[in-house]
Amino acid sequence: MAPYLGTEHARATFQPKSVPPPTDLNFDALELAASEALGSMAYSYFAGGAEDERLLTEASAAWQRHLLYPRVLRDVSLIDTSTTILGQELASPIIVAPTALHGLANAEGEVATARGATDAQTIFTLSSLSNRSLRDVAAARQQTPQWMQLYVLKDRGATAALVDEIREAGFSALMLTVDAPVSGLRSRELRQHVQLPDDLSLPNLEGAVGSRPSGVGFMAHVAQAFDPSLDARTLEWLVEISGLPVIVKGVVRGDDAVRCFDLGAAGVVVSNHGARQLDGSVPTAAALAGVVDAANGRGAIFVDGGIRSASDVVRAICLGADAVLLGRPILYALATGGSQGVTDLLEWFQRELLRTMALCGATSLSELDRTVVGA
Ligand code: FNR
Ligand code: LAC
Repeated sequence: MAPYLGTEHARATFQPKSVPPPTDLNFDALELAASEALGSMAYSYFAGGAEDERLLTEASAAWQRHLLYPRVLRDVSLIDTSTTILGQELASPIIVAPTALHGLANAEGEVATARGATDAQTIFTLSSLSNRSLRDVAAARQQTPQWMQLYVLKDRGATAALVDEIREAGFSALMLTVDAPVSGLRSRELRQHVQLPDDLSLPNLEGAVGSRPSGVGFMAHVAQAFDPSLDARTLEWLVEISGLPVIVKGVVRGDDAVRCFDLGAAGVVVSNHGARQLDGSVPTAAALAGVVDAANGRGAIFVDGGIRSASDVVRAICLGADAVLLGRPILYALATGGSQGVTDLLEWFQRELLRTMALCGATSLSELDRTVVGA
């Protein structure tokens, strides 16, 4: 794996830190500002979930149900949020999730988001459904690595060619999404007749995804190019041809996580695609511990879905996640503040993680154990 921590500067930022003064950032206010900046079409696409959106509401609520049991009488003058993910040291366990169509939020699209993440020394995961090419995004890379998400296409030749391109462009892990063999029922998109601009191209998938007929939701259209026969052999094939660590995204069952590790995966993301696929699925806050226990340390465990505060990050780490991924918060920060907005949001999470850990009596991530969530 390519080392990326070449500089003294990067190393120095991973020293333990004292807790800074608080700065306010309210997720609901950010979302409201983003909805105004985006307009109703783009906002509906970003914000929406599947079917009746019960899981969308439940996703954040399920984290809140893990009440914290802080330790006291610990010296918390210095806190270390650093961690090692797939052999690479990171300043904090907060990573950017792959989300499609950043061109709806910013004229520079994913290049702005990637720059924002890199300035916060955080991994950016590029969706294969991006409006900027993977080469453009790779050019924004600095010391921090980037990962890329992949949908397996019916056209396996095109899939293999894309994997080659991803590796050659220097992405250091492949994130294979497995919870979307078909599109979820995106009721909000259908009900509100969401029509996304036709001029937003998908440069990584040119040729694989045809032009969009009107009246069909975005996901419903692109998912026609996805291969619903994706199975265990497909994962083995990708592990073999990519030569990259493969992280399987969209797992909520322990037995599936074990199967992924048996097949050569380096990690799994406990995810239900931001509540956009199967509305009846278990919230990730409820599924995480079972996956961690079944996986039994065989690979990295990530989680996303409804993570909106540093307390949610702490809850996820306590339950056994190695790192968390943020989806919509990043999109809303991009829509309201561009690249700088993304950096500010990530740095706010990083600073508030210092505070929340101090308040929990933990000076390193390893002290965030299940007893801190009362388990
Ligand atoms: C997504 N997600 C997603 N996942 C993926 O594997 N490939 C993709 O292209 C996308 N696209 C996408 C677009 C939008 C608008 C959203 C909101 C989500 C899912 C994403 O990676 C992640 O799982 C969730 O967004 C996490 O939940 P939160 O943080 O949005 O609650
Ligand atoms: C979505 C796809 C693009 O959730 O993953 O809209």
